[in-house]
Amino acid sequence: MNGNAGPVTILRDITLDVAKGETVGLIGPSGSGKSSLLMLMGGLERATEGTVMATGHDLTALGEDALARFRRAHMGVVFQSFHLIPTMTALENVATPLELAGRRDAFERAEEELHAVGLAHRLDHYPAQMSGGEQQRVALARAAAPRPSILLADEPTGNLDGPNGQAIMDLLFGLRDRHGATLVLVTHAPELAARCDRVIRLADGRIAGEDRTPRAEAAE
Ligand SMILES: Nc1ncnc2c1ncn2[C@@H]1O[C@H](COP(=O)(O)OP(=O)(O)OP(=O)(O)O)[C@@H](O)[C@H]1O
Ligand SMILES: [Mg+2]
Repeated sequence: MNGNAGPVTILRDITLDVAKGETVGLIGPSGSGKSSLLMLMGGLERATEGTVMATGHDLTALGEDALARFRRAHMGVVFQSFHLIPTMTALENVATPLELAGRRDAFERAEEELHAVGLAHRLDHYPAQMSGGEQQRVALARAAAPRPSILLADEPTGNLDGPNGQAIMDLLFGLRDRHGATLVLVTHAPELAARCDRVIRLADGRIAGEDRTPRAEAAE
């Protein structure tokens, strides 16, 4: 990556295969490269070297428009800092990708999705009028509403307390269990990591280890 601070090497020697329908957790200390790796996987940042393949497409070879179309068709992303559109209400934020996908029932679906994350009473609120945890739930509803086959989520329960965190986990794993979605989740939450098939540990921009979780062992 290049910025005012000059080029910085953030990730190195990463080889990671995620199977269709698999749930992978990414853990590691602050600054270890979790968000950077997630952004690369989503084609939201470009690597200086290497390739990123998803559903048979080489994301590193696609231009910006093709990448945007790819994400619209296949991928939901929950950013660590949410990236909600500040001039849109919660309902509009969630409805927008559905409208872009040509869904006529975009607003009905968006409302259902906000109900599912416990925000039925916040439909007409703007991001600045919502708490961090509420914004996070809007961001998740927005990413999940088009039923993406791949969901990348950066600390999706990071700002949530017990019951809300549980509701979000149910929504995430519902995408997997009911729709076969592949999930890549950056998390610090042990209860979320425990529900993944594999947990990848990053340190200093490298894969430092991989943990099999009780779920993977139970599946054997
Ligand atoms: N655009 C950028 N330009 C320069 N350095 C960056 C940029 N983005 C991230 N970094 C650096 O890359 C490293 C990894 O950052 P990243 O955000 O991926 O970490 P993280 O594991 O997600 O941390 P956290 O748990 O705090 O969210 C950090 O040292 C960070 O300072
Ligand atoms: Mg991060």
